[in-house]
Amino acid sequence: MTNRHAYTEAEQAAIYKAIAERRDMRHFLPTPIAPELLTKLLQAAHHAPSVGLMQPWRFIRISAPSLRKAIHAQVDAERIKTAQAIGEFETTARMAEFMRLKVEGVLDCGEVLVATLCDHREKHIFGRRTLPEMDIASVSCAIQNMWLAARAEGIGMGWVSMFDPVKLAKLLNMPDGAKPIAILCLGYVNSFYKAPMLVEEGWAKEKPLAEMLMENQWQNDVESK
Ligand SMILES: Cc1cc2nc3c(=O)[nH]c(=O)nc-3n(C[C@H](O)[C@H](O)[C@H](O)COP(=O)(O)O)c2cc1C
Repeated sequence: MTNRHAYTEAEQAAIYKAIAERRDMRHFLPTPIAPELLTKLLQAAHHAPSVGLMQPWRFIRISAPSLRKAIHAQVDAERIKTAQAIGEFETTARMAEFMRLKVEGVLDCGEVLVATLCDHREKHIFGRRTLPEMDIASVSCAIQNMWLAARAEGIGMGWVSMFDPVKLAKLLNMPDGAKPIAILCLGYVNSFYKAPMLVEEGWAKEKPLAEMLMENQWQNDVESK
């Protein structure tokens, strides 16, 4: 059946290519990103769907080098705490493995953005009465839009969630109720990882779709399939 609403084959291929080749990047070149390109990527984020058209995303561009260093210090402190927790709840070998991973590129990338949830979110009830976390889901949609647009532009992006949101909110002078949820590192790269870096480094394995898909009801054996 032909569908007159469908994109051309080439357009479709480009969309699927960006989805498949998007990677979470932690290695960057210091080349700056032109302001017009950064605006384009932010606009892509801003096109995202949001619960009740809430548009709860706010982006803080970090242009002051001293602030970037302070953010990096917070991330590094949390990296150490994460390693300790892995040592406690998993094994010391796993902790050592974690410490060898590169988990952020805050100091190396061309641009750092902090993606945050806005304040006064309690006023937004549409779609959130039983699921208040739909605000964070909406910001995640915006981040994913930016991630895909960045990949299409040849720009790498890394999502860093290793930080204490209270401390970061204080550093960025955020109002009560607003919450940082992602530090986004953006920049030119030497090459994109062919597979998730955590897979390339042997830290984790990807599971196939078949293990995530059920029919009609929850299947308890689905994980062991
Ligand atoms: C919500 C979220 C938070 C993440 N936080 C971090 C992080 O703090 N540090 C990191 O190295 N990667 C982080 N990542 C990236 C994931 O590790 C990465 O997406 C995953 O390993 C799959 O790799 P891929 O994005 O290249 O497909 C995060 C990703 C998401 C979606």
